[in-house]
Amino acid sequence: MPLSAYLGIAGHSGFTAMVGMNLLDPQPGQTVVVSSAAGMVGLVACQLAKRAGARVVAIAGGGKAERVAHLYGLAAGIDHSAPDFPVLLASACPNGVDRHFENVGAKILDPVLELANDTARIALCGLIQHYGDDGPICLSHFRKILLKGVSILPFSIYRHEEDYPAALRDLEAMILSGALHAPETIHDGFDAIPDAFLAMLAGHGIGKHLVKVAD
Ligand SMILES: NC(=O)c1ccc[n+]([C@@H]2O[C@H](COP(=O)([O-])OP(=O)(O)OC[C@H]3O[C@@H](n4cnc5c(N)ncnc54)[C@H](OP(=O)(O)O)[C@@H]3O)[C@@H](O)[C@H]2O)c1
Repeated sequence: MPLSAYLGIAGHSGFTAMVGMNLLDPQPGQTVVVSSAAGMVGLVACQLAKRAGARVVAIAGGGKAERVAHLYGLAAGIDHSAPDFPVLLASACPNGVDRHFENVGAKILDPVLELANDTARIALCGLIQHYGDDGPICLSHFRKILLKGVSILPFSIYRHEEDYPAALRDLEAMILSGALHAPETIHDGFDAIPDAFLAMLAGHGIGKHLVKVAD
């Protein structure tokens, strides 16, 4: 595989998706929602959920959600910036939400909680919406956690380091067989690092942003 794969799909991002999806353990036919689905973690999470036989709904900004849904044959791709996002999400999940992979924060988690089915599971992977903000994180649908018996499963890959060698073997096998794939955006030169970082935060493109500093 190209070395760049070990910085994305077969690196931290792929491993993160695998740890979170193992916690969710989606079953065939269940509805799985993935936020920040156009980022590398989200792209791998969507594909792992689909391989498990789940009905996958991808959430991302702008037209990227639909592109991801089309690329991987998912049930739907929903734009979180749409003014009627909660309504669109509800119509994409007519049987509620059984599993959710959260990468963003309250703006996604809250409408997902509203749709949670009994004993739904939520893998709390990231809160990118709140990283630059120390304010409280408010959830209007917090009570659903109790009413529906929702399990919130926070995780850090740094507490799962011993699982990485086995996960890497699984990721490599899926990538080499063509069962797992994801686009990369390569920025050229050391000076491109700040722009690449900002492009990642601003959500330009699908998949991993990498900077090539030398051959
Ligand atoms: N738990 C762990 O061990 C672990 C390990 C690695 C990474 N993570 C977390 O996993 C998540 C995904 O990582 P990644 O590397 O694949 O990054 P990523 O999803 O590519 O993150 C960038 C994307 O986040 C979305 N975003 C940024 N600010 C946002 C906001 N205010 N509201 C909504 N969406 C926003 C944008 O997507 P859109 O344009 O589509 O909105 C942007 O493209 C991150 O939260 C990261 O911190 C966790």
